[in-house]
Amino acid sequence: MIKQTIYSAILALAAASPAFAAEPAQSHYVPTAENLAAREQFADHGFGVFIHWGLYSMFAQGEWYLNKGISADEYAKSAAAFYPANFDARAWAKAIKEAGANYVCFTTRHHDGFSMFGTKQSPYNIVDATPFGRDVLKELADACAAEGLKLHLYYSHIDWTRPDYPSGRTGLSTGRDPKLRDWPSYYKFMNAQLTELLTNYGPIGAIWFDGLWDHDEDKTPFDWQLGPQYEMIHRLQPQCLVANNHHQVPFEGEDIQIFERDLPGQNEHGLSGQDISQLHLETCQTMNGMWGYKIADQEYKDAKTLIHYLVGAAGRGANLLLNVGPQPDGSIPATALERFKEMGQWLKENGRTIYATRAGDVAPQAWGATTRSGDKLYVHVLDNEPAEIYLPLTAKIKKATAFADGSKIKTTKTPDGWVLTLPARNTDTIDYIVECQL
Ligand code: GLC
Repeated sequence: MIKQTIYSAILALAAASPAFAAEPAQSHYVPTAENLAAREQFADHGFGVFIHWGLYSMFAQGEWYLNKGISADEYAKSAAAFYPANFDARAWAKAIKEAGANYVCFTTRHHDGFSMFGTKQSPYNIVDATPFGRDVLKELADACAAEGLKLHLYYSHIDWTRPDYPSGRTGLSTGRDPKLRDWPSYYKFMNAQLTELLTNYGPIGAIWFDGLWDHDEDKTPFDWQLGPQYEMIHRLQPQCLVANNHHQVPFEGEDIQIFERDLPGQNEHGLSGQDISQLHLETCQTMNGMWGYKIADQEYKDAKTLIHYLVGAAGRGANLLLNVGPQPDGSIPATALERFKEMGQWLKENGRTIYATRAGDVAPQAWGATTRSGDKLYVHVLDNEPAEIYLPLTAKIKKATAFADGSKIKTTKTPDGWVLTLPARNTDTIDYIVECQL
């Protein structure tokens, strides 16, 4: 009984202490003018490419390979064999630019704890631990700058190798001594690395955090001290957007809302049930099935599917961050390069209906989605069956034309919207776009 009371008192104290608070105590975040401008530019960009590349690429089983009961010490030996002879940052940036993307998000350090940049905070990095010895992030930053691509940096809050990382529910069999966990030490390490990332690689478009879900909010809440970390980022680079893949509504200090593997409002993968905020949105998706290179995973989505996903995202006010997992030799898989070309070709012709648009006035429908730019509403008809589509739209359509050839599209006013009468489409039409002048 006494024991029970003491225990309850400890729990009550713990709950009241800041270390257990669900959210960091922080003064109200007011984004700077640079940051607000960067948010708009981000929304205008529409399409980015995600790159998952690290030591895990060598095992060719995806980026979670270390979590499969493997010893971190054994895994680390692979660094001595990492020599991506075909890595060519310029070639990556060119291919990504040709795909019609406007930014790149690169995994600087994934859950496996290996830094893919030259860091002074740990020798376990691509410059010091591999025979390759090159700072691939520096090369990528330069290549992106040359191609006019913004650089975003993925950074994992999880680390399956460092003993000071306060382990959560993943990476528990890598052989760390749980007694050595030391949050202040780990937090300091992360902030020192983030400082390097925001100091040594030019302007950074976004820091894209991942892994907060390692600690179960309800069962073992953990204070990640995000507030001061976000403040530090904004202090170092005010325009840098803070994003966090925590699968919740954005926290104070975050500048965009990101979704994983689902269009905002859909939740087929179970990670996207959270409400949609007022911030600009992004959703990330794999081109095949895995983020990191996986040799057995050749199930690439076809160009039509990928373009539909991009259109679906744009119609929901979200950017698409489409992932590729480069091979251990540093080259991007051939099929991914082919998809890049196909998407780039489509965007060259139709980019005006995607870039610098916002979600259209008509919410996504079974037949497709709409985007809006100025007084133009772009109606993206993705389903080639219907001869007529209905737009629940109060605004007046002054004129409607086919985006591809400018031919006139018949519009009929109904009590609460408009009907567009469409010509017959080939079954292989990717997206029949109608430009409506409002
Ligand atoms: C998940 C995975 C991770 C991947 C990320 C991309 O959070 O843990 O491997 O990098 O999604 O969205």
